[in-house]
Amino acid sequence: MVKICCIGAGYVGGPTMAVIALKCPEIEVAVVDISAPRINAWNSEHLPIYEPGLDDVVKQCKGKNLFFSTDVEKHVAEADIVFVSVNTPTKTQGLGAGKAADLTYWESAARMIADVSKSDKIVVEKSTVPVKTAEAIERILTHNRKGINFTILSNPEFLAEGTAIADLFKPDRVLIGGRETPEGQKAIHALRDVYAHWVPMDRILCTNLWSAELSKLAANAFLAQRISSVNAMSALCEATGADVSQVSHAIGTDSRIGPKFLNASVGFGGSCFQKDILNLVYICECNGLPEVANYWKQVIKVNDYQKTRFVNRVVSSMFNTVSGKKIAILGFAFKKDTGDTRETPAIDVCKGLLGDKAKLSIYDPQVSEDQITRDLAMKKFDWDHPAHLQPLSPTSNKQVSVVWDAYEAIKDAHGICIMTEWDEFKNLDYKKVYDSMQKPAFVFDGRNVVDVNKLRDIGFIVYSIGKPLDSWLKDMPAVA
Ligand code: NAD
Ligand code: UGA
Repeated sequence: MVKICCIGAGYVGGPTMAVIALKCPEIEVAVVDISAPRINAWNSEHLPIYEPGLDDVVKQCKGKNLFFSTDVEKHVAEADIVFVSVNTPTKTQGLGAGKAADLTYWESAARMIADVSKSDKIVVEKSTVPVKTAEAIERILTHNRKGINFTILSNPEFLAEGTAIADLFKPDRVLIGGRETPEGQKAIHALRDVYAHWVPMDRILCTNLWSAELSKLAANAFLAQRISSVNAMSALCEATGADVSQVSHAIGTDSRIGPKFLNASVGFGGSCFQKDILNLVYICECNGLPEVANYWKQVIKVNDYQKTRFVNRVVSSMFNTVSGKKIAILGFAFKKDTGDTRETPAIDVCKGLLGDKAKLSIYDPQVSEDQITRDLAMKKFDWDHPAHLQPLSPTSNKQVSVVWDAYEAIKDAHGICIMTEWDEFKNLDYKKVYDSMQKPAFVFDGRNVVDVNKLRDIGFIVYSIGKPLDSWLKDMPAVA
């Protein structure tokens, strides 16, 4: 029986391995992690991450051919294929701080694999890593090889949170990169055979190692670039009276452009877009390509601009101050259908409003009070480390309350900021909402989910990203 072990039981390791176990009943899959609370959660009824369809997949194979364990060394030693899906955060100190990927966790995983292995192994990069990481990992693995053969593959993951299970069941493509040697090609075929259980062969792309590593960074950079492009247009739409949804639709019908990923928003969030572009920028700089680095840097600059612009709209509309005013924050996750808050734009918007002394009442159907409190206190990039290495839960901020109901968050508020496109925010009883708020009552829609005309008819002053401005806002320009 082929044995697979995955180091890292996070958003990628957990769901990808659960799907491999489901689709390949004859393969035994162990997912291991240094975080005992995370493993305990995987072994309980309450999985550590919220992902539609995941519970069902895990239930079908846990205890049969899918196991979660903290006994990292035992499972690595027994495995034929070892996936490494650990954190690859942005470095906060030293060379490349604020840009380069911190490979501490990857390196320690590689050293451990080298130490405990007693048989040949295929080692698969599942984490997103800088180009040429495989070379460094190979050096670590082969340094004290004790006669053991390690073959390294790059198999980056393209799933998106909230749709992870659907993405894994029916991926656009699976990418496998390996050395162009007989051993490299044999390893590629072995991994291809695993995916071939459910992925059509023509969707399994095999490349060299460096193409696979770079394609992952390039894919995220291109996706993020589309969002920054449409967000840049949203600012111009507000200045000119054009409607960004109409512009997106008009350009998206061009089959060369396509309709996806053209929704203007308060900015992209999530654990990877910013991290991976910073990483790409650093690699360009290291390779003497400052023009290329600056091109990609601009994608992040526009994203930061969009978040600042949103905060300025809120403050300037409310007579240039939100001091002491209650603002309801609807949604905190970086997108709907996930409880993940990593790099969510809500953090920057909340911090901006708190900087102007607002009182925030936050509601998200999937994010706990503890998580929100941590996020608002944490330093940039600290979130992307294993849980036990993150700062302890801080004492709560008196200006912030976290509630478990949207209407409760909104009661007596001066304004509402919609930060996540949860479906329930489309369907609130906005007449009831209006009646419960201070007047004038403002809605700032960072996700374009509300029916602007309907809300204006009720009496709200509405700001919706990239939409023709309310006359109130025209008179109160948002200047930084
Ligand atoms: P995560 O933080 O959810 O999970 C990583 C896990 O690795 C943590 O549970 C941590 O405790 C564990 N870990 C760290 N070092 C370890 C070690 N030495 N031994 C055992 N366990 C260890 O992160 P994630 O979101 O799953 O991302 C993992 C990688 O996948 C990153 O490189 C990320 O860029 C990439 N990626 C993420 C997504 C996504 O949607 N989240 C999608 C594609 C790729
Ligand atoms: C993204 C990619 O889509 C995945 O392919 C990739 O594997 C993953 O990053 C990763 O490497 O981590 P994810 O971050 O989970 O997935 O979610 P996305 O759906 O890409 O959304 C990212 C952010 O962009 C969210 O904040 C979302 O609200 C925002 N977004 C997305 C927009 O503002 N507008 C859009 O049109 C689309």
